[in-house]
Amino acid sequence: MKTKDSVLKLLKERGGASVSGQEIAAMLGISRNAVWKAVNSLRLSGCNIDGGTNRGYALISIGGKPKLKSIRSGMNGEDADIFIFDTVTSTNDIALDMLKDGARHGTAVVAHSQTQGRGRTGRSFFSPAGSGIYLSIIINRNIEADNLLAVTPAAAVATRRAIDNVCGKQCLIKWVNDLYLDDKKVCGILTQSVMGTDGKISGIVVGIGVNFVAVPLPEDIKNKAGALFELPPDIDRDRLIGAIISQFLSLADRLGDRTFMEEYRAHSMILGERVSYERGGIEYCGTATDIDDDGALYVTLYGGTVTKINSGEVSIRRLPS
Ligand code: BTN
Repeated sequence: MKTKDSVLKLLKERGGASVSGQEIAAMLGISRNAVWKAVNSLRLSGCNIDGGTNRGYALISIGGKPKLKSIRSGMNGEDADIFIFDTVTSTNDIALDMLKDGARHGTAVVAHSQTQGRGRTGRSFFSPAGSGIYLSIIINRNIEADNLLAVTPAAAVATRRAIDNVCGKQCLIKWVNDLYLDDKKVCGILTQSVMGTDGKISGIVVGIGVNFVAVPLPEDIKNKAGALFELPPDIDRDRLIGAIISQFLSLADRLGDRTFMEEYRAHSMILGERVSYERGGIEYCGTATDIDDDGALYVTLYGGTVTKINSGEVSIRRLPS
């Protein structure tokens, strides 16, 4: 491991508490000057490290703030408005407000951190500064009712593709809206819609959160969540943001053509697996046998009955085989 990675690992283990240069040097068996050089190099690569030689060092955040130029460098030249914020409650909140105010189709909202990042079923989404991607994309186009349920699977396929292309990591899709790497959740998707005065859906916000680099996690998600990279890679996180936007906008333009659902099924984490879910207070167990082009899941129960589960209806747990 490079010296700067060892220093970063140590600072991460201290979870934001200050560690003296002398202690780091002693623990890693290097000189204090080597510690100072490693800290400077980490700062140059975007880490926010507080302190100095005589004050000790504390890790504030792992990556720098998102930058427009680098995000655009990952895109395919689409003319989409991109708004970058420092800290927000939730990028979905900002995007929903922008949608109500008539934001252009394809507008993207990106944040360095979120104070109230949220996921499905009222869960929160841990969103510390610098280590993750917090992105919401606005669909301000008439979406036929038949295509509404395809939006979240399309976002999962788009994000999976972008991660593969930019980072060379192959994630699996856990029905319906999560991406997993090495059995840990690394990405979640939250789709929210806005009703027009006619009672029809007038626009959609697709929120995508990706854990890019590992950071110390809160106790409740410590064993379930992971990250694309354990240590900051030489891959630009902002390019990945751009690639996700481009991949998603291209699928959103032709939601009626469900060929992307082949990709969704091919990378499913649960097809063919034993799963359980709860409906009406009863726990059901069976095998996940199919996912149709609208994203509905079919579970063959142990008695042989096949049940159809619409996306968003229940949470599926994969059982050990
Ligand atoms: C889930 O895990 O159920 C979905 C998580 C979605 C998180 C993203 S981060 C960007 C956007 N803003 C939010 O508050 N949530 C989504």
